[in-house]
Formats: sequence, C-alpha cells, structure tokens
Amino acid sequence: MNNKNTADDYGRVARWLHWGTAILFLLAYMVVYYRHWFTERQTAENLISLHLHLSFGITIGVIVILRIIWRNMNERPILEPGPGWQHLLAHLGHYTLYAIMILMPLSGYMGTGTNTKYFYLFEIPKFSETWLFDVFVWDYLGLTFEEFEKPIDFFHKEIMGAWLVWMLIVGHACAAFYHHFKLKDRTLIKMTRGE
Ligand code: HEM
Ligand code: HEM
Repeated sequence: MNNKNTADDYGRVARWLHWGTAILFLLAYMVVYYRHWFTERQTAENLISLHLHLSFGITIGVIVILRIIWRNMNERPILEPGPGWQHLLAHLGHYTLYAIMILMPLSGYMGTGTNTKYFYLFEIPKFSETWLFDVFVWDYLGLTFEEFEKPIDFFHKEIMGAWLVWMLIVGHACAAFYHHFKLKDRTLIKMTRGE
C-alpha cells in the first residue's frame, strides 16, 4: 500500500488521518455525554470528562490542518461511476465534513471559559486570555466574554453538537455502507484495505 493516494485508492496517511479522526469524534461524543448523563457537577469525573472532551476536540482541530495540507499534496481518488447528482452530493458532503472538523474545534475553544488541561500533560490558555480575544472581541466587537460566549455556545452545543454533526456523520457512514453492501462498489474499500 502506498503512503500517498492514487487515482484508485486513498494512501496509508490519508486513511490513518480519516479513521483517527473518526475515532476522536466518537471519543469526544462519548466523554461529553458521559459527563452530562452520568456525573454530578464539580466531581472529579465531571471535570476529567470535560478536559478529555476539550483535548479530543483540540486534537481533531490540529489533525484537520494536517489533513488539508496532505489532501492538497495528493491526487484525489476518483469517485465510483454514478449519476452526476450523486457525485455532487458526495463532494458537498465531504466539504461539509471538513467545515465541521474546523468549526467544531474553533467554536468549542472560543466558547470555553476555562484553560484546557490537554490530556493532563500541559495547559492551553482559554480564548479570553489571548491577544485575539482582546483585539477582535473586546476592542473590535466591544463584547465581554459572557456576551460573546452565548451565541458561540448555542452554535457549538445546541445546533451542531447535539444534532447536525452526528446526523451528518451517520449519513456519511450510511452512504459508505450503501455503496459497499448494496451497490457493491469500491467506495469503502478505497478507504480501508485498498488493493
Ligand atoms: C470536533 C470537535 C468537537 C465536537 C464534535 C464537539 C461536540 C460537542 C457536543 C456534542 C457537546 C454537547 C452538546 C450538548 O450540550 O448536548 C459539546 C459540549 C461542549 N464542548 Fe465540544 N465538541 C468539539 C470540540 C470542542 C473543543 C475543541 C472544545 C474546547 C476546547 C469544546 C468545548 C465544549 C464545552 C465546554 C462543552 C460543554 C460541556 C458540557 O456542557 O458538559 N468542544 N461539544
Ligand atoms: C463509521 C464512520 C465512517 C465511515 C464508514 C466513513 C467512510 C468513508 C469512505 C468510504 C470515504 C471515501 C469516500 C469516497 O472517496 O468516495 C470517506 C471519505 C471521507 N470521510 Fe469518512 N467515514 C466515516 C467517518 C467519518 C468522519 C467522522 C468524518 C469527519 C467528520 C469523515 C470525513 C470524511 C471526509 C472529509 C472524506 C473525504 C475524503 C478526504 O478528503 O479525506 N468520515 N469516508
């Protein structure tokens, strides 16, 4: 298997980045809902699951940068033959997933009022302590962190996290399984074992 993509298959690096991100999404969801459903406020588990959520989320944000760079250095595997509207939908879906991988870590970070204990190894300062907050939010928009945080949190949690993100990912995974089991083409194989 090649490290780089070919016209037929995703290469080793693209696969690791893709499946690594998928696992991180699953973990980010598991820990945040574990916190919501199974922990009491201000207990050790409550805080640990929060910081794990922040850490998984930030890791996704770093990986997506590497992923975009790698994507642009590589050939794109050709989509399986199919009607034009299916290809359009596939491209739109992939771009939307990239948008999610950027906007979720960004909105999560900008709306969080605490430093991130990154896997309890080191601390990442909260957004409200950065120069970008001072210049953009405080000076330019004239908002306090509390005022700025409200719409950002609403976007991150209520609109995206609780609904749109997991629905799009489930839709994307169902499309891949539909190609594999119903159409019996190479869509999923390109991203798994290849040939
Ligand atoms: C792709 C990355 C991410 C995904 C998919 C994601 C998803 C979610 C979801 C599903 C929730 C719970 C929504 C609800 O209230 O029902 C949530 C809450 C939250 N997220 Fe994220 N998030 C991501 C990244 C981040 C990052 C990078 C940070 C901050 C550094 C962050 C900070 C938070 C905070 C503070 C909450 C509220 C926690 C709570 O109420 O228990 N998220 N996120
Ligand atoms: C069980 C979960 C998943 C399955 C089965 C799956 C399957 C696939 C397959 C088969 C492809 C290749 C499609 C093609 O080239 O025609 C693909 C591409 C892609 N997937 Fe997933 N995927 C999953 C989860 C995710 C997640 C969580 C994300 C990110 C939020 C994601 C983002 C992407 C993107 C952006 C592409 C386009 C290729 C690229 O530029 O890297 N996938 N996926």
